[in-house]
Amino acid sequence: MSTPTINPLRVGLRQERVITPQCLVIFGASGDLTHRKLIPALFQLFLQRRLPSDFAIIGCARRPWSDDEFRERMAQALKRETKNNTKGVTQFLEYLFYESVDLQQPEDLIKLGKRLEEIDRIKATHSNRTFYLSVSPKFYGSGCQALARAGLLNDPKRSRLVIEKPFGRDYGSAQALNQIVQSSCQESQVFRIDHYLGKETVQNILVMRFANAIFEPIWNRNYISSVQITAAETVGVEERAGYYESSGALRDMVQNHLTQMLAITAMEPPGHFDPEAIRNEKAKVLQAAHLANELEPWKCCVRGQYEKGGSRSKPLIGYRDEPGVNPTSTTETYVATKLFIDNWRWQGVPFYLRTGKRLAKRLSEVVLTFREAPVHLFDAAGGSPTSNQLILRIQPDEGAEFRFEVKSPGSGMRSRPVEMEFSYEESFGEPSDEGYVRLLADAMLGDPTLFTRNDEVEAAWRLYTPLLELIEDRPWQLPTYPYESRTWGPAESDALLSKDELLWRRP
Ligand code: BG6
Repeated sequence: MSTPTINPLRVGLRQERVITPQCLVIFGASGDLTHRKLIPALFQLFLQRRLPSDFAIIGCARRPWSDDEFRERMAQALKRETKNNTKGVTQFLEYLFYESVDLQQPEDLIKLGKRLEEIDRIKATHSNRTFYLSVSPKFYGSGCQALARAGLLNDPKRSRLVIEKPFGRDYGSAQALNQIVQSSCQESQVFRIDHYLGKETVQNILVMRFANAIFEPIWNRNYISSVQITAAETVGVEERAGYYESSGALRDMVQNHLTQMLAITAMEPPGHFDPEAIRNEKAKVLQAAHLANELEPWKCCVRGQYEKGGSRSKPLIGYRDEPGVNPTSTTETYVATKLFIDNWRWQGVPFYLRTGKRLAKRLSEVVLTFREAPVHLFDAAGGSPTSNQLILRIQPDEGAEFRFEVKSPGSGMRSRPVEMEFSYEESFGEPSDEGYVRLLADAMLGDPTLFTRNDEVEAAWRLYTPLLELIEDRPWQLPTYPYESRTWGPAESDALLSKDELLWRRP
């Protein structure tokens, strides 16, 4: 009798699908991501009864833990992350196993292979495996090669590889990593994570655009005058200075999360709802995108770094005083930049991207501003009518709003702007799952729709190459301007928009 393999998916995102029996192997099981995101997301899938009964999770790291020690630590992590709401946790822990593995030691992978065979027997997981690389990015290439050498990626129908971000640190290193990955397994086995694509509201951009006939006809340069994409955080660098110092906001947020939001907002409609059709369109739009001034990139980008701020009762320290940060660091914690997309749909429409830590508010959104009415027939409150705006609220207040002018009550004919709103919570009554819940399920289902393909990731790095090279070679041309914590970033970033007679939205 043939054993079930992972479904090759053509059903895309259409229906609730069933995860086939398998073993999920997490490398980096002692790390922060496993504790804070992966195990809680798997627990959520368990509570939603989406994990098959023939299922196992093997945590792998160098530490010599036993299965029980790993289970105990994950139980603690779940307590913290679910605020003690751990009903069902004992049952969930039965899925967990641990194997001490150093990805650099070939004999450890042979040992892991044997453990997997044993778990296949106990748990009937049918040699279906999803390997999750949640290790330091410097081990992505060698880890992938080690898995391939141990024969663990041999069967493209039964084994997959999930790779966390950052995928490379520039165009060249992303290309080199892609080459290693592709010499170790097939592209169809690879799932590059960008957790923003797991957010319900990011996926909703696709549904808003392609399930409603009213938006597509106006979703172009004839009606839209500019687009702003923001991912603002209130937190600082926290305990991640070691990573962040050599990354900065451009690599940490812009190249991946903001660029993925841009791709989904700007892509052409796919011919059908199929993973490759969607990823083809995303790759195409990223290949058509470029910085507004590629030859003089300092003119279209502003970098910033947070200084102390906050309130008297809750003072906040500046980036350079954070533990682990070089006191003369010039790493940016804020970036604003301007792009264009050279295609029929978007020619001449500026896309402004901004992200920062320690900003005034936690908020991610995509704002489409429509062209003004050609003739102003009415007096407007505030002098001139505001442009219509469609605001796609990614988080935290998930939903969308449309701003338009209406008649102010009274005998005159004055107009003023109002908002029409949709809120996920009000309409559906419950907050959406964390992005990792969706992405882990999709990876285990073998659905690559919400993962970035090799050409997409390279196109995204290529886009920012002029900025990365400038920061590397002539950093004084792109200085990091200081901004006070809990404000909207350096004043210089306002100039990026005021040159175009625009303002950043400050909700
Ligand atoms: C991560 C970045 O990818 O995304 C972090 O490395 C950032 O620096 C985080 O804080 C933001 O994610 P979210 O989902 O909280 O917007």
